[in-house]
Amino acid sequence: MPHNVVPAVVNVDLEGPRISRHVYGHFAEHLGRCIYGGFYVGPDSDIPNEGGIRLDVVEALRALDIPNLRWPGGCFADEYHWKDGIGPKEDRAVMVNTHWGGVEENNHFGTHEFMALCELLGAEPYISGNVGSGTVREMSEWVEYLTREGDSPMVRLRKANGREEPWKVEYWGLGNETWGCGGNMSAEQYALEARKYATYCRSYGENKLYKIAAGAADFDYGWTETLMKQLGHLGCQRVNNSMYHAVSVHYYTMAGTWADKGSATEFTEEEYYTTMAKAARVDELLTGHANVMDCYDPGKEVGLVLDEWGTWWTVEPGTNPGFLYQQNTMRDALVAGVHFDVFHRHADRLVMANIAQTVNVLQAMVLTDPDSGALVLTPTYHVFEMNKGHQDAASLRVDTPAGLPSREVEGRELSTVSVSASRKDGRLLVSLSNLDAEGAADVELDLRGGTVGEVTSRILTAGALQAHNTPETPDAVAPRAHEGVTATDKGLRVHLPAHSFVTVEGRIA
Ligand code: AHR
Repeated sequence: MPHNVVPAVVNVDLEGPRISRHVYGHFAEHLGRCIYGGFYVGPDSDIPNEGGIRLDVVEALRALDIPNLRWPGGCFADEYHWKDGIGPKEDRAVMVNTHWGGVEENNHFGTHEFMALCELLGAEPYISGNVGSGTVREMSEWVEYLTREGDSPMVRLRKANGREEPWKVEYWGLGNETWGCGGNMSAEQYALEARKYATYCRSYGENKLYKIAAGAADFDYGWTETLMKQLGHLGCQRVNNSMYHAVSVHYYTMAGTWADKGSATEFTEEEYYTTMAKAARVDELLTGHANVMDCYDPGKEVGLVLDEWGTWWTVEPGTNPGFLYQQNTMRDALVAGVHFDVFHRHADRLVMANIAQTVNVLQAMVLTDPDSGALVLTPTYHVFEMNKGHQDAASLRVDTPAGLPSREVEGRELSTVSVSASRKDGRLLVSLSNLDAEGAADVELDLRGGTVGEVTSRILTAGALQAHNTPETPDAVAPRAHEGVTATDKGLRVHLPAHSFVTVEGRIA
């Protein structure tokens, strides 16, 4: 196997833009077993819970310092009518979840339950409002219900449902995928709708809303341009609270096509590299959307939000195709590692990102067994945990003067080593991924502008890319101390075994 040695320069004293903690955001949709059976089992369950919310899931997720949780969808959001999900549970309307398996939704998990979940997690709520089949009044009343103090119709309703004080809910999504499941609109049509919805979603008191317009699919830069043009027209920005403050985009990674996405656990080396090449394209995606935004907003006041990302595989055999339940391997972990490196590099424009989704759906952190209730932490979970020190840290540029090792995948060059770094509270955190399926690499960190001591390192890897965790083997892929870091006269040499994710931390003096 070729052994790659990669020189990388990091000036630890030259702080770049702050990495918003919100790029480590999450997403929970009423889809499959994400909410019901995942986050929520109901108060009568044998599984320990608080108000129906699973405490083992909460405990596991608290270790990730989840900054925000997007809810209730996804496509579900544009069919969700929030008033169906408040008040006594036995009186709540039942609806059909037409997007996700056509199952009946009893609305037992609604606004109050979601806010309780956010409080348990210590996460900020990000509510995705209904533009597709809702009304401006409905969304504006939801804002009033959640965030207004004093006396008004929605405040009275909230109090009647047992909540005196308003909540703090800053983040509001104005619909979801409005080019598709959220209303099949054209960009021009939606941009006008978004302006209207933004106008009537009011900031009450200290609760200043941050409104996020539903954005493009993948590389549809025209959609972003249309939304940005509308902002230019009104002069926009955060100070103008009648408009949106950010635009979103969604990007999923798969080995195959939408029609045949590929198995989560049974894949060839070729499919692995195709996956990694697609994951790495998130850099091109963010660069493209950011470039469009720069033309209208060179001061970077409008945020870019990647509020759905992650792997999307063919569902696990024997599970409901509408539930999007998939396993999660070492390959998924590396997809996450690559995304985070890219996010850190785009810290000047990317204000939030949300992995799809947190529990039991797509690239999840946590999988729960529907029969035994057993909980498993996925390889992706471990990347979120190992990387959490980057949240709200100052990004540090990583220069690789000799380039990065690469291989050609479907006509494109895929860098097989990925590195990002940040500093916070006098500590350096470097994340490194070796995407090479079989060959090791060494990264020679040339640390300038400070010395780094008290170095610790952890590694996530496994014998096979297909390795994953199950209730029987929960730690098949789990982090452990990494002995492969040595001091050099310039800094540190970090050994990266094949298909591994490594973090290195140290105190900067
Ligand atoms: O995350 C699953 C689905 O993917 C969401 O509901 C939708 O927004 C996207 O197409």
